[in-house]
Amino acid sequence: MSFAASRPSPQLNAEGELIHLITLEGLPREIITGILDRAAPFTEIAEREVKKVPLLRGKSVFNLFFENSTRTRTTFEIAAKRLSADVINLNINTSSTTKGETLLDTVDNLAAMQADMFVVRHASSGAPYLIAQHLANTGREHIHVVNAGDGRHAHPTQGLLDMYTIRHYKQDFTRLAVAVVGDVLHSRVARSQLHALATLGVPDIRVIGPKTLLPTGVERMIGPGRLRVFHDLREGLKGVDVVMMLRLQNERMLGALLPSPQEYFKSYGLTPEKLALAKPDAIVMHPGPMNRGVEIDSAVADGRQAVILPQVTFGIAVRMAVMAMLAGA
Ligand code: CP
Repeated sequence: MSFAASRPSPQLNAEGELIHLITLEGLPREIITGILDRAAPFTEIAEREVKKVPLLRGKSVFNLFFENSTRTRTTFEIAAKRLSADVINLNINTSSTTKGETLLDTVDNLAAMQADMFVVRHASSGAPYLIAQHLANTGREHIHVVNAGDGRHAHPTQGLLDMYTIRHYKQDFTRLAVAVVGDVLHSRVARSQLHALATLGVPDIRVIGPKTLLPTGVERMIGPGRLRVFHDLREGLKGVDVVMMLRLQNERMLGALLPSPQEYFKSYGLTPEKLALAKPDAIVMHPGPMNRGVEIDSAVADGRQAVILPQVTFGIAVRMAVMAMLAGA
């Protein structure tokens, strides 16, 4: 029987416990809230003189980043080290991938070095799933896989840290209006955010963007009637509690989907004047990296409502929680 057919979700074992983190789509609410709850005490470790706990002592975490990253790679490394794991960062540019070694051969060789966990970022959607499937089919299911962003598919730990941030500032998901703004078409972050928002019971979920940057059938992405689509930023922002901005993913655009970055900013760039249409205490989020003057004005990015840097800090605790949960620690 294949890996996918062997159980309802490839990221859960037969007991319903998390063994890999590939996507937030279909992940039970109890597991999502369990990770958020688990992350909370980890934020306090940063205040200690010795910022370490022994939960992953003796474990080897391999960071395999086949795509560039500043926040995700670094915070995974910090998180693993705070859990006392040994961290190995494979430098893809100087690895034998450049000599034509396949992804699965690379994985097999690292697994032979007694890896306990792979943190994987890849430009191809499905790469972390493929690795998890390969490990299961070769009897090495004890090695955990964490998706650190695959193509347009998913960025589950970003989605989780975003939910942690929202809960930190707004407490109750079930009373919120949340807008996801921009290039949803190419965004793995948006997909993970939308699935998590739906699972956590946010009643008013909005997607705002030009038609060319929204996927076909976006209104059904998280189930019928669960989100509203706006093409007018001003209209969509009215009365929201949370504004989640997205970067224009130029590297994933196959053709010209926009007139120019200046035109985009005019219609969809978040300025103080447009933000004033949201609730006065609305928070502004962005997964980074930001393109200032394209999707967000510096006055907003650096303004009192922005929680963009706290998102990064919370990312350490959330990634610690994910790795600790996977390792059963
Ligand atoms: N948010 C995010 O994934 O940023 P990096 O690409 O820098 O990891």
